[in-house]
Amino acid sequence: MEIKYKNPIDDVISSYVNLKRAGRNLNGLCPFHNEKTPSFTVYTDTSSFYCFGCGAGGDVFGFIRKIENLDYIEAVKKLADRAGVTIPEGDYDDSYLKLKNKIYEINKEAAKFFHNHLFTPEGKWALDYLTGRGLDIKTIKHFGLGCAPNEWDGLLKHLKSKGFYLTDMEQANVITKGKNNGYYDRFRNRVMFPIIEINGKVVGFSGRRHPNEDKGGKYVNTSDTPVYKKSKTLFGFNFAKNHCAKQLLVVEGNMDVVSLHKAGFENTIGTLGTAFTSEQARMISRYTNEIVLGFDSDAAGQKAVARASEVLGDSGLKVRVLSVPDGKDPDEFIKKNGPERFKAVLEGAVNEIEYKLFMAAQGIDTSTADGKAKYLNLAAEALATINSPITIDLYAGRLAEQYGITKATLIKEAEKIRYNNRKIRHKKEIGAIIKPVYKNNEVNPLKRTNKLAVLAEETIIAVIMAHPDSLSKYQALIEENMISDINKRIFKAVEQSISGALGKFDISLFGDEFSPEEMGYISSLQNSKGPFVDPQKSIDDAISVLQKEKINSSPSEAGKLDDDAWAKQMEELIKNKKRSN
Ligand code: UTP
Ligand code: MN
Repeated sequence: MEIKYKNPIDDVISSYVNLKRAGRNLNGLCPFHNEKTPSFTVYTDTSSFYCFGCGAGGDVFGFIRKIENLDYIEAVKKLADRAGVTIPEGDYDDSYLKLKNKIYEINKEAAKFFHNHLFTPEGKWALDYLTGRGLDIKTIKHFGLGCAPNEWDGLLKHLKSKGFYLTDMEQANVITKGKNNGYYDRFRNRVMFPIIEINGKVVGFSGRRHPNEDKGGKYVNTSDTPVYKKSKTLFGFNFAKNHCAKQLLVVEGNMDVVSLHKAGFENTIGTLGTAFTSEQARMISRYTNEIVLGFDSDAAGQKAVARASEVLGDSGLKVRVLSVPDGKDPDEFIKKNGPERFKAVLEGAVNEIEYKLFMAAQGIDTSTADGKAKYLNLAAEALATINSPITIDLYAGRLAEQYGITKATLIKEAEKIRYNNRKIRHKKEIGAIIKPVYKNNEVNPLKRTNKLAVLAEETIIAVIMAHPDSLSKYQALIEENMISDINKRIFKAVEQSISGALGKFDISLFGDEFSPEEMGYISSLQNSKGPFVDPQKSIDDAISVLQKEKINSSPSEAGKLDDDAWAKQMEELIKNKKRSN
């Protein structure tokens, strides 16, 4: 495993996560879920990682696989490249890689087909529609916009003539299987926006309905495919990435992105109408310093702002919020008022707290005592979300002066809210810590009905991982008494690893044998138990539990701990764990 040794796990993960040393391990904020206190740990001893918050875990390959959304072979290749190692062709199963390449080819051909159709008599309506919305040919070509013909199999026939198979087209999500097993085009009679990833490849499409049509969704988008994950893609980022070092503008709509680029705001990307994810935040944070959120000013837009600022909160990026006047979307605003006015709106984008204060005042008549009280309570809620005491002081001072109350009252109220919010958050975080247990329950279903036995098995595996020399003495006894299938498989893998050339357990040997969830489970066994003061006794105890559980046809009472009791135990375990780190 030369590739592995040339890619030390702490080194690789550091380029994605800000890690801090904590004893022998490293800690940081988990890149796989949204959290405020670090529960993501990298264990350099065992070359593995584990998140107590979401249960993600595994080795360096598993990490790359998960964070870059790759399959196992691709992750190995990526790390091989990173280390300058070449893997001989044919040494691995590359069928998934081939499928992905096929999908890229299909998407490219489909994009060409839609684009060409735009300039035919049948596609003229779409061209007229786009120019009618203020676009010129240059912009249309730049974005590769197109038109899907008003036929059931226009694209299908075309792709067939180019030698593509139906199964691959279906995997690319450009065709759909109908009720009687026939296939038909997924995009019909629509204006087409190709979705292009950072490296310039077409990964999917977003199709807008014909303006005279009212059936079907306004936009139809590609569903997730082997090359396209909605939660990781941003429309227009392939262009915007070169123009956004100073500032990146995030909007909702496809048309907004295209018109803003045309108007000179080439630092704009679109969320394709979905909630902003932490994966997207991580991706853009490598390219820019400041994000301006330009969502609609309706209720849904405000919610999107709240969600996005939560996601962006820990990214270290400066966040500002744009409110386009008259409830328009940026595209409509520019069309009506021109780019200069939009620029002024953009410059007037306020920081989050000003935005929240502004939104809080909407619909409230602050000239009455009642309205004033209502507004100030909402303002205190907004202040409660600020971390910096200086900033709180500043805004509290401003509000106090403006509304004739004392600054201290406002700050006190904000602190009270903050305290309550923290309590709620703490509860949530404990909940998140408990969750991986349930995730592990999915990997090992027996844990639901016979926790005691499974805990014993887990202990045994954990001890053997940490003390491989105990294996020979106990091997037969363990094999005889293991109950759950997954633990049998894991034990077998551990045993093979120890009796192999390495002489100890190495998680990286199993990346292609176990699923990512199972790898998370293995990593939790390796990292969340122990240290074992008396390994032999731990094994002896665990084996006698297993033997008892085997005789009891029904699981013992302790094995049926209810969820609350179980959660308490977990909490204790984690506390002890954190202390020992
Ligand atoms: P909007 O409904 O605000 O549409 O949805 P829009 O962008 O202003 O559309 P135009 O200007 O009428 O063409 C915002 C975005 O949400 C996604 C699309 O990406 C859209 O641009 N969306 C919307 C969907 O994916 N599906 C839908 O049915 C509607
Ligand atoms: Mn619009």
